[in-house]
Amino acid sequence: MTLAEQAATPRVLISPERLQERVAQLADEINRDYADTQMLSCIGVLKGSVFFMTDLLKQITVPLTVDFFQTASYGPNKTPGEVRIRKDIDLSVKGKDVLLIEDIVDTGHTLRTVLALLEFRGARSVKLCALLDKKAKREVKIEVDYYGFEVEPVFVVGYGLDDAELFRNLPYIGVVDN
Ligand code: IMP
Ligand code: MG
Repeated sequence: MTLAEQAATPRVLISPERLQERVAQLADEINRDYADTQMLSCIGVLKGSVFFMTDLLKQITVPLTVDFFQTASYGPNKTPGEVRIRKDIDLSVKGKDVLLIEDIVDTGHTLRTVLALLEFRGARSVKLCALLDKKAKREVKIEVDYYGFEVEPVFVVGYGLDDAELFRNLPYIGVVDN
């Protein structure tokens, strides 16, 4: 491996083993909380949540459906707070119990927008499950019902999270050191 390639390899912050252990714990918690639920509408936010979501949902024992939103920030400066829905969900959420699944909650603007939309459409209940919570960066108040790990306000990649579309397939959460 060349020096350039070594420098480009993100440093491990959360190992694959710790991720899998925590995902199993979250699944246990969710299975317990929704034990009496007839049908759970699981909605992921593309693309970052996909790796986490598939690992998590394989361990959920409640009957469920799978759907996706894709969001983006408006404008060339990606102004936080102005969130655009790039892909809408396919299934109705009216009267449904929704579990919204995210990779990371940062400022909270994305989730606030999506939550407002789900409530507007008449979801019966909405809970949030995020793998990572960057609490120090929060700009709007968002209650995360289930989260895997709190992370420092640094840019993280891997296990779904990207840096300019790269590194999503890393089996761990890493940090790109400059
Ligand atoms: P928000 O600031 O809470 O609206 O987060 C918006 C989105 O930015 C998240 O869903 C992630 O997809 C992305 N994001 C925030 N922090 C990071 C990071 O450290 N690495 C990669 N993506 C991030
Ligand atoms: Mg995301």
